[in-house]
Amino acid sequence: MAYNLLKGKRGIITGALDENSIAWKVAEKAHEEGATFVLTNAPIAMRMGEINVLAKKTNSQIIPADATSVEELTNLFTQAQEVLGGKIDFVLHSIGMSVNIRKNIPYTESNYDYFQKGIDVSALSLHKMLSVAKKLDAINEWGSVVALTYMAAQRTYPFYTDMADIKAMLESIARSFGYHYGLEKKVRINTVSQSPTKTTAGSGIKGFGDFYDYADAIAPLGNADAASCADYCITLFSDLTRMVTMQNLFHDGGYSSTGVSMEVMTKLGVEQ
Ligand code: NAI
Repeated sequence: MAYNLLKGKRGIITGALDENSIAWKVAEKAHEEGATFVLTNAPIAMRMGEINVLAKKTNSQIIPADATSVEELTNLFTQAQEVLGGKIDFVLHSIGMSVNIRKNIPYTESNYDYFQKGIDVSALSLHKMLSVAKKLDAINEWGSVVALTYMAAQRTYPFYTDMADIKAMLESIARSFGYHYGLEKKVRINTVSQSPTKTTAGSGIKGFGDFYDYADAIAPLGNADAASCADYCITLFSDLTRMVTMQNLFHDGGYSSTGVSMEVMTKLGVEQ
């Protein structure tokens, strides 16, 4: 059911790789809620071509941009305003990549070139986007920026390796930039800390399947899926949350507040 929550709003949605991507669901929901937006991804991800299906479905244009390039981001924000006919109201940062994870390198043996790459792609890209947007004055007052993160920023998950540190940085950038952009232009910046989700980025993590089941058994509501994450992002883009900024918001079915569940205790052989 749609509520017209984003009627008349213009957005930029990054990171829709295929139909499993969280960003893909956000784009579908934003379209249902009356928004117009451009889709963007790294040029290399475009080659797979799936994003064209989403663009057609949501009646949106695609503007390729490598999120590590200030030049390409400048082009993105400039062109997006031209295409959409005005300043931007919402931005989804849904970008994550760790070469150390991809190559299965243990945390304590992290390759530093890969580490730097991960920081640049997955955390600094948010700073670059915000900096470009602010310089161009491309975001309307009360505009909303949401970046996706994971709880390994607060608690250790050994298999999440360097991405844990990178997500901590991403969350910190949302807070720090949120102060400055809020003060000057009333632009809101938040991170949504999402449950493990079966996507290309998620499933690339070693032992993801088992961990997914574990989190599902801990969370009283079970793991939050990509579609419900999209619903939550839509509320954050809407005017109904206009005083929410600089927050890291857990969207995880109660996982982060649960110590242990009876389901897991039972699996360990503890009698109820
Ligand atoms: P995904 O693999 O569908 O999306 C990741 C996106 O990042 C892809 O579209 C990829 O092309 C894009 N990307 C990579 N390098 C880029 C670059 N240089 N410039 C522009 N875009 C680039 O996976 P998913 O899961 O939808 O990931 C979206 C976000 O959600 C990521 O930040 C991820 O860390 C976060 N997240 C994912 C969880 C999961 O379990 N899947 C859990 C919590 C957070």
